[in-house]
Amino acid sequence: MNYRHAFHAGNPADVMKHAALARVLTYFAKKDNAYRVVDTHAGAGLYDLAGTSAMKTGEADEGIERVLAADLPAPAAELLAPYLDAVRALRREAGARRYPGSPALALALGRPQDRFLFCELHGEERQKLEKAVGGDPRAKVLFQDGWHAVGAHLPPRERRGLLLIDPPFEEPGEFGRLVTALKAAHERFATGTVMLWYPIKDLMAVDAFRRDVARLGLPKMLKVEIDFSEVRSLTQLSGSGLIILNPPFTLADEMRTILTAITPLMARDGKGRVRVSWLTQGG
Ligand SMILES: C[S@@+](CC[C@H](N)C(=O)[O-])C[C@H]1O[C@@H](n2cnc3c(N)ncnc32)[C@H](O)[C@@H]1O
Repeated sequence: MNYRHAFHAGNPADVMKHAALARVLTYFAKKDNAYRVVDTHAGAGLYDLAGTSAMKTGEADEGIERVLAADLPAPAAELLAPYLDAVRALRREAGARRYPGSPALALALGRPQDRFLFCELHGEERQKLEKAVGGDPRAKVLFQDGWHAVGAHLPPRERRGLLLIDPPFEEPGEFGRLVTALKAAHERFATGTVMLWYPIKDLMAVDAFRRDVARLGLPKMLKVEIDFSEVRSLTQLSGSGLIILNPPFTLADEMRTILTAITPLMARDGKGRVRVSWLTQGG
């Protein structure tokens, strides 16, 4: 396990994923009843974009920094407000170039009644994550294989919630594991929202993955993808994708509005591409 998210925190892929995470949790918060977030590959929780890892790649400069500096059209600015306000609040509290990973963002948006489970298998990252969570009574950090979380933690006691699966894609077979986990999650928690992140790099692998996911035939699966580079390479990310099972009914339109506004800012050609479509509907 060599992957360290600190090199990539706040990059265009993170921005897209975290914007979607914030929209899902904002939607959940419209009802008072508690929800639970299970984040299977949680990372360090909180990042310093002025640190050596982030500075080495400079990826956040093409992602969150461009979005924060932009004068966004009002509809996108409004939809992004929960996410960007959480980033700005963290920077006021903890330092100018801090960035919340999925755990810190989820905790910032969560309410007292909501619960959070974060799995992280890398020892150092888990220690950082525990520090980032800071003893928050709503959260548990587990030194557990995230791929086992579906069987171990679904369905949640609250019967409402989100499973986020965001693996590092450093080992072969991770596309296949995502498909298996999605199927298992639906079997255990049919009404739950599941969000899978995947890299757009190897286009044949992505095509096969989309087909395998569609073939599961689960109702209500949304695909959200962006391309931020026209250079196709098996080693470099050219785009980023999310499959969301049981998304809030508003999410497709919201993500279209958000990504149409921010993808050109983050794309190397100043345009980029956005694809939001249903893999399956109804149910
Ligand atoms: C892409 S990063 C997570 C980023 C995080 N979800 C965010 O949005 O801020 C993936 C993380 O998964 C961890 N990891 C790798 N294999 C794992 C496994 N089997 N179970 C749990 N964590 C794992 C890595 O150490 C890494 O920190």
